[in-house]
Amino acid sequence: MFNLTGKRALVTGSTQGIGYAIAKVLHDYGAEVYIHCSKDEVKAQAVAAKLESGLWVTGDLGDPEYIKRIYEKTGELDIVVANASVQFRTPWNEISAEEFDRQINVNLRSTLELMQAYIPAMQAKKWGRFLAVGSVQQYRPHMHMVVYAASKCAIQSLVHNVAKQVAEDGVTVNNLVPGVIITPRNDEALADAEYARKVLAGIPAGFAGQPSDCAGAALLLCSDAGRYITGIELPVDGGMKL
Ligand SMILES: NC(=O)c1ccc[n+]([C@@H]2O[C@H](COP(=O)([O-])OP(=O)(O)OC[C@H]3O[C@@H](n4cnc5c(N)ncnc54)[C@H](OP(=O)(O)O)[C@@H]3O)[C@@H](O)[C@H]2O)c1
Repeated sequence: MFNLTGKRALVTGSTQGIGYAIAKVLHDYGAEVYIHCSKDEVKAQAVAAKLESGLWVTGDLGDPEYIKRIYEKTGELDIVVANASVQFRTPWNEISAEEFDRQINVNLRSTLELMQAYIPAMQAKKWGRFLAVGSVQQYRPHMHMVVYAASKCAIQSLVHNVAKQVAEDGVTVNNLVPGVIITPRNDEALADAEYARKVLAGIPAGFAGQPSDCAGAALLLCSDAGRYITGIELPVDGGMKL
């Protein structure tokens, strides 16, 4: 049910953090997994070697040309996890057009472009898994991440809409929604004891998650075990959404 032998996968932004944990679990359950990051080929290659997949690809998701190149390198895939994102902490009335465009392009537009690139072949094969990665900020936005939160809400809409249209072809489209997960992204912010205390106070479980906490949910949604689950958000957040 969870066996992914014979399946080929790409996890964007998988050189560290949540993406790496998802790539590892897909690999552990038998998939051939492409490791990806924006441009550091040495890092991508090293992580692929650590995973013993040997498969890696780089490309900045803010640039549609790179998405075409990523597709040219991987070819058709069975599983795509759109995990990479960028976020800027800026008060709402100081957000620049550049920051807006960067977050919308890397987070939202690339999710659509990855769907457009990979889902048609999944439909033709009558089996496919597309997993977007959202954020608890879809429900509880951080006051200094207005555009990031909005990009994740928009991804949720994209997931609902496309899931319905490709379901009859055996392709599921879902959204894994992490809460506070300890990754290099928030190392610095959580190192501030006062900020960390405030964040933890908002998590009913009382602790921040590890990247591996997202692995089981991703495996469910990327395997045959999840064949009847589509168009959902699956929060992995210790109850923070509540
Ligand atoms: N950590 C959390 O608490 C948390 C909470 C809610 C949601 N999330 C979501 O979970 C996902 C993973 O988060 P994370 O904390 O694991 O992130 P992370 O530690 O910052 O890692 C991000 C990964 O994405 C790659 N990446 C960044 N910008 C990219 C770009 N423009 N093009 C291609 N690759 C890019 C990074 O590599 P390079 O920088 O080398 O390219 C890295 O591999 C994100 O979608 C994030 O929004 C995280």
